[in-house]
Amino acid sequence: MKKVIALHPAAATARVAAPVFQGGPLADTRGRTMHDLRISVTDRCNFRCVYCMPREVFDSNYRFLRHEDILSFEEIARLARAFVGLGVNKIRLTGGEPLVRRNLDRLVEMLAELDAEITLTTNGSLLAKQAAALKKAGLDRVTVSLDSLDDATFRKMNDADFPVAKVIEGIETAAAAGLGPVKINMVVKRGVNDQSIVDMAEYWRGKGHTHLFIPRFIEYMDVGSTNGWRMDDVVPSAEVVRRISARWPLEPVGANYPGEVAERWRYLDGAGEIGVISSVTQAFCSSCTRMRLSTEGSLFTCLFAQSGHDLKSLLRSGASDDELRNEIAAVWQRRADRYSEIRTEFTSKNKKVEMSYIGG
Ligand SMILES: C[S@@+](CC[C@H](N)C(=O)[O-])C[C@H]1O[C@@H](n2cnc3c(N)ncnc32)[C@H](O)[C@@H]1O
Ligand code: SF4
Repeated sequence: MKKVIALHPAAATARVAAPVFQGGPLADTRGRTMHDLRISVTDRCNFRCVYCMPREVFDSNYRFLRHEDILSFEEIARLARAFVGLGVNKIRLTGGEPLVRRNLDRLVEMLAELDAEITLTTNGSLLAKQAAALKKAGLDRVTVSLDSLDDATFRKMNDADFPVAKVIEGIETAAAAGLGPVKINMVVKRGVNDQSIVDMAEYWRGKGHTHLFIPRFIEYMDVGSTNGWRMDDVVPSAEVVRRISARWPLEPVGANYPGEVAERWRYLDGAGEIGVISSVTQAFCSSCTRMRLSTEGSLFTCLFAQSGHDLKSLLRSGASDDELRNEIAAVWQRRADRYSEIRTEFTSKNKKVEMSYIGG
């Protein structure tokens, strides 16, 4: 079999000259404002999900980052403060698997001092052990990924032989610790786990009297360059809603806030709600308010980017807080990307940074 070598994204970072940020709402070239920051705290993971870190790529020649190249907690917290100063009010820790980074609760404690909501996306494998400490440190909410309730299907998708029961234990421990409502992300890949859609909805329906659990069905995306994405593998959200609604009728609910990526639907019988994320069939680039900070301190304005903007060099060269803020502002102000709006089978073959590196 031909070996696929994933490009190390660090090879392609660039600095931009920073005009002075004058304050006021920070808008990009399409009028989008910056409100969310996703921070990838590690590019490593204990799973090898087939759509994210296929084993044949990530267990062969892939170059993971060295410890000295990744941002320290102190560096992340300093940058996060700069982002909050520019209008960010929501920070999500992700990866790779964020809970494999040692003492993550220490970082959460530092970030909790900022005027922003702090959330985390995890595969749930280590959540039962860490939920209480994370809550105590100031984490507001968690999102847990779970692609099927069928053990054989789930083990095959995570490719680490990890059982469903352990993830459910993590989800329930997190909810009991006060980290709810817990969102449960299921990436749907046709022919692989689409038979699990209705079971997933059924399992969380009516559980927890205050809608503590919200399953969200995500269209399989062409992130990175290694998952061999094909449009035929995508199950459109409209089909997901149709399949669930055929069993328990659903109606649409308005967004919680402008720019929310999940479209919300609730059961007519009052048994809670689901979400669908349609980044392939209904691009939401025009309302995207997200900036991403990679594990080694590169800034990305798009999940599908081919290169980032090096912030770590500036940070480690002794830059002042104002200089950091100006650099970040300049990157956002120049932003013009809208990848999902122009996606085709052809663009999906572009060399893009891996999701485990940039932060999902
Ligand atoms: C990259 S993961 C990082 C956090 C954590 N390891 C986890 O799995 O939740 C973040 C989210 O991206 C989703 N994801 C990864 N690859 C994807 C793809 N190709 N298409 C759609 N979603 C994807 C995962 O299922 C997960 O919900
Ligand atoms: S989706 Fe999350 S758990 Fe799965 S391989 Fe990617 S980073 Fe790991």
